[in-house]
Order: sequence, then structure tokens, then C-alpha cells
Amino acid sequence: MIRTVIAGNWKMNKTVAESVAFATRLRAAYASPPAAEVIIAPPFTALHAVAAVIRGSFIGLSAQNLHEAQKGAFTGEISGGMLREAGCTCVIIGHSERRTHFGEGDARIGLKLQAALTAGLKPIFCIGESLRQREEGRTEALIEHQLKEGLKNLSADDIGRLMIAYEPVWAIGTGRTASPEMAEEVHRFIRGWVAQRCGPEPAAALPLLYGGSVTPDTIAGLLAQPNINGGLIGGASLDVDSFLRMIG
Ligand code: PGA
Repeated sequence: MIRTVIAGNWKMNKTVAESVAFATRLRAAYASPPAAEVIIAPPFTALHAVAAVIRGSFIGLSAQNLHEAQKGAFTGEISGGMLREAGCTCVIIGHSERRTHFGEGDARIGLKLQAALTAGLKPIFCIGESLRQREEGRTEALIEHQLKEGLKNLSADDIGRLMIAYEPVWAIGTGRTASPEMAEEVHRFIRGWVAQRCGPEPAAALPLLYGGSVTPDTIAGLLAQPNINGGLIGGASLDVDSFLRMIG
């Protein structure tokens, strides 16, 4: 059994003070750790302060991006080592907003995955098709391409250390969630691909998260699917009460 993962991707939202207030409430909401693994991904500026609030608690801390180099002349960028030092345990890599707005391609994403693992961070590797690709019946081909290219230089052991988030681009921030059956079909495909590449055991143990307009009302149906092990949640994770409802 894979433990359910509830991850909140805050994107470019919340000041340091707002992030600390959220983390403080989240921590205080549970006398003993919830059944789900809980992760929050505040913006870079709030990571260190949030890490201090959640230290020793059940809450994991994720960054939303990293640079693939360890250090150097990359103005405006942050390395995996810096994220570790700030208290992160995970990092989101390959989010469709990074792919679309910042030109990140599969090869670059592959380097970022390697850099994260080298730094001791667990990558949350995001993949997903656009509306056009789905309408043209190219969903599986695209997913396969993103997996193949993004994971090209990773060993089976490395792949076993990831979480993969399936996030159809047309469902992100649009209020249009994939139906549980639709999401399950792609998740099953992803697990099958990983099984072929790495063997059945690592594939069976790999957490596969769904993301794209997940809400407290839709999450249970998604999590009831056999291959959906969690959610990567944007908009509905920003309000602490809404987030708590999804953790359960
Ligand atoms: P959303 O975002 O829940 O607001 O659709 C999900 C994501 O982009 O990770």
C-alpha cells in the first residue's frame, strides 16, 4: 500500500507572514500525524521561515523549482543544495507552468531531476498533455515521450525515488478536473511504463499524484482509483481550511 500524498503547490502566492501563519495552523490542526503524507510548497522566499515552523512535525516542505547546477553565475536561480539547507525535503520539477512560461524542455527537466536527487531532494516530477493533444488522441504518446525523455539518464533506483504527478494542462487552474476514470487511465499507463522500464516492484511502490483543479469535493473520487495515490493541489491548497479538508 502506498501512503496517500496530499501536496499543496502554492505557486507565486503568499508572503512570508502568510506562509508562516498557514504552516502554524496546519501543524496545530493534528495532535497526532494524519494518515496522509502532507507536503506544502511555498514560494522560495518563505521556505526557510516555514521550515522553522514545521521542524519535527509531520509536514514535508517542497520547493517549486531548482536550477540544475550546484552553484555559479546563474542570476536569479536557486540550487538543490540551497533548498536542502533551507529545510526542503522535496522539489516540484517540470510543472507545466515552467514548461510553458519558462521554456523548460524535457532535457532540462531531466537535468533538474538528477540535480534534485544528488542534493537529496525527492522530486515531484510533473507531466501532462494539453487540450489539443488530448483531443487529437495523443495523450499516451505525449506522456510516454515526457517520461522517456525526462527520465532518460536516471537509473531504475533513481526513478524509484521520485513521485510522479499527472497534471493535464487543460485541467490546471481551469476548474475542469479530469474525471476519476480519465485520470486513472493515464495513471495506469504511467505505472505500466515505469514497470517496463524499472520492473514491477518499484513501479508498484511509486506514488502517482493527480493534479488539476482538485478540490475538497472532488478529491475522494480521485483517491478511490487504484492508481491514484495522492493530489498535487494548487488553488484549493491556498486556504488552510480547504487544505485540511483534503488531508482528512
Ligand atoms: P490547480 O493547480 O489545483 O490550481 O489546478 C494544480 C497545479 O498546477 O499543480
